[in-house]
Amino acid sequence: MTHPGTRINPRSDQVCVNGRAIQSVDRQTYILLHKPPGYLVSARDPHHAQTIYKLLRGIDARVFPVGRLDLDTRGVLLLMDDGDLAFRLTHPRYGVKKVYRAWVSGHPSEAVLRALREGMKLSDGVTAPAHIRVMRARGGDTELEFVLHEGRKRQVKRMCEAAGHRVQSLIRTHFAGLTTRHLKLGQWRHLTQAEVKRLRELVGLNQEQ
Ligand code: URA
Repeated sequence: MTHPGTRINPRSDQVCVNGRAIQSVDRQTYILLHKPPGYLVSARDPHHAQTIYKLLRGIDARVFPVGRLDLDTRGVLLLMDDGDLAFRLTHPRYGVKKVYRAWVSGHPSEAVLRALREGMKLSDGVTAPAHIRVMRARGGDTELEFVLHEGRKRQVKRMCEAAGHRVQSLIRTHFAGLTTRHLKLGQWRHLTQAEVKRLRELVGLNQEQ
């Protein structure tokens, strides 16, 4: 292909200059995994039996997780080899929205819910205001929905522990608007180009670079 302005399909066409392949941003790899409990979110580690990479067979790119989920947490986990986007998606400055469903022990009082919403004092500072809804109660437990715009380590569990309620199970239902819809536990898919474009715009990165 030599004609200037020739249109290419970045998903299927390979562009070469002087015989060398050009790596375009569109060739970067963006994965959405429905993480099951029991899989460690860590760097690729051939010695650790059960990391998320066990579930990602068939992906050649060196994708890395965007933030962390605990061993026993399930739900939306993004992996990518786009460092700029991953950095911004996890940086508190960009306030990317994360939604969790947590079953907690006991029935949090209105005062406890208010404290959780307004900010809990944790070892690394006071948490930012959060939207928290009571979803339902079952036996001695309560299901809460957390909408967070920061992503501290083990944030939901630490907030609940500080409020006197142990988290029994935790699911991340949304990350930046993405969900696990149509994915069974352990399944993954590539993000669409439209999804990648939306994520990049969300954190102030342009598609064209
Ligand atoms: N908050 C937690 O406590 N654990 C997670 O895995 C994610 C958010």
